[in-house]
Amino acid sequence: MIPQSFIQDLLARVDIVEVIERYLPLKKSGANYFACCPFHSEKSASFSVSPTKQFYYCFGCGAHGTAISFLMQYNGLGYPEAIEELARSIGMAVPSEGRAKSAQADERQALFERVARAAAFYREALGQAPAAIDYLRGRGLSSDIAARFGMGYAPNDWQPLTRVFADYQDKRLISAGLVSDKGDGKRHDFFRNRIMFPIHDRQGRVIAFGGRVLDDSKPKYLNSPQTPLFEKGRELYGLFLAQKAIRDAGFVLVVEGYMDVVALAQFGLENAVAPLGTATTAHHIQTLLRQTGRVVFCFDGDEAGRRAAWRALENALEALRDDISLAFLFLPPEHDPDTFVRSEGVEAFRHAAANATSLTDFLLDTLKTRCNPSSAEGRAHLVHEARPLVTRIPAAAEVLRLQLVKAIAQASQLTQGELEHALGLPLSSRPASTHHAGAFPQTRSRYPSRGAPRRAPPSTATMLLRLVLQHPNLAARLPIGLIPDDSAEGRALIAIIDLVDLGEAPGGLGALTERFRDTPHGEILAQVGASLIDTEFDAAVVEPLFEDTLKKLQADTVDQEIARLTEQARKVPLSPAEQHMLSELFREKHEFQDKTNLKSRSNI
Ligand code: UTP
Ligand code: MN
Repeated sequence: MIPQSFIQDLLARVDIVEVIERYLPLKKSGANYFACCPFHSEKSASFSVSPTKQFYYCFGCGAHGTAISFLMQYNGLGYPEAIEELARSIGMAVPSEGRAKSAQADERQALFERVARAAAFYREALGQAPAAIDYLRGRGLSSDIAARFGMGYAPNDWQPLTRVFADYQDKRLISAGLVSDKGDGKRHDFFRNRIMFPIHDRQGRVIAFGGRVLDDSKPKYLNSPQTPLFEKGRELYGLFLAQKAIRDAGFVLVVEGYMDVVALAQFGLENAVAPLGTATTAHHIQTLLRQTGRVVFCFDGDEAGRRAAWRALENALEALRDDISLAFLFLPPEHDPDTFVRSEGVEAFRHAAANATSLTDFLLDTLKTRCNPSSAEGRAHLVHEARPLVTRIPAAAEVLRLQLVKAIAQASQLTQGELEHALGLPLSSRPASTHHAGAFPQTRSRYPSRGAPRRAPPSTATMLLRLVLQHPNLAARLPIGLIPDDSAEGRALIAIIDLVDLGEAPGGLGALTERFRDTPHGEILAQVGASLIDTEFDAAVVEPLFEDTLKKLQADTVDQEIARLTEQARKVPLSPAEQHMLSELFREKHEFQDKTNLKSRSNI
């Protein structure tokens, strides 16, 4: 495996124009470069290369991709070979993994020591903070459980850690995420007036913290920044303490947050872990599957919970094996694990976990809801949506994949053979994520051709995706909870935001396309990207356009909520609280209408 960070680095350094110029004579016209397409025979130059997007697209045949895809397609190279070739052309060496450096190990050791000292300080500070103790009592936690999790308190002061670190100017306090420096040389503690949850690595060493406010201020939870010890997408809160319980129970529960883990442990369910303010990543799932063969994801029963569950499912597909089981437990909408176990009791929780929805059921149910298989178009759509999911299931889960194929065949009213053909199978003879050149043309006909009549205005998610593909930094400003996941564009956008949440800087179109190669989002990114090949957004236009689109997103959410409540009102009378909410929503809707002055959508 070539590290993704290397691929991203490589793409940031090569210029696709220079790469393609080695093979084709390119002519500049406007912002882009053009040539006769090498992938189909033609006399006019339909093959365009965008230097700003680092992407090529042929208006004639739909061929498209990055510098890496070009070498694969043009030279018939495999994915790793194309990367080798590209790296060689600019004098970079593809790294071989595992070059441990002892200087780095020493540095890590120094950081571990500092974090451990801070953890001890916070623990002690809790004993002297009656307000913090009251808060924990109020949440129903015993002092035993607080001690088991090493909980502490960060005092309400600017530099409490000066009391434990003689040299507060030590740069390593910053590297360890304990102290922040705003750049003006004025340093202060990273955590202030918060309940502290130490995060342990697999050996039980404290590597970072989560801190919760005692009141309603924001943000509710603050997590340590990424440090050399702490990579958010890899660590799971509570895993070190839960290891034995996971083996004993025969499964692990994945819940959303710190309090859920702690509250479940208080009730004797000690086999729970939580990701750290991010989505559940493929890496998390792989880590858990080394401990146990059954993972039960526990999500709130609301819309946000269902979306988080779907993302966990997408990330889990590659880790599937025939000897493991992954399941999804959806709690009633008004509950999280903490409140559920308190109000319904441990046995109810155990029962719910044992009866959680299997991954395949959840996958099929979601596709059916999304695609409406009562029409031929809906069934075709279902197969289309299923393709990138099914093809990600590895050979180790061959039987499960077969089961899924049969179930999808039934839902789409195809024979198994017809479906396998439609999915580009037989899968059994092909491992899941091999990197092949020329996997594009399936959807060629749907690509926009020059001068084609304009279609329906793009959805808000599509507009945002287009903006983000041109200006990736915008991704950090998108509210993940509001992005609808009922379209491929919306889901791709959510996946990009997830990356940013995990601390990755999103690259432009070319870099993102490579990042999502062979995932369910690769195809839509390439499609939307190809449709943008001729478009350059002026920086001055982007900001107001982005603001307007964000407002539109909020307005869409309000509209959906209004539609849901009015629909509900048709069946049962609304409670006073719901009536109040509905009138509030209408008020918001009118406010939006007054304020927004959406630019013509057709210009993106
Ligand atoms: P919730 O807001 O649902 O919090 O966020 P919670 O776990 O129920 O917290 P309590 O019960 O009010 O204490 C779910 C999880 O998302 C992460 C945390 O891991 C949290 O537990 N989160 C939430 C953050 O990282 N930052 C935030 O500002 C909010
Ligand atoms: Mn809660």
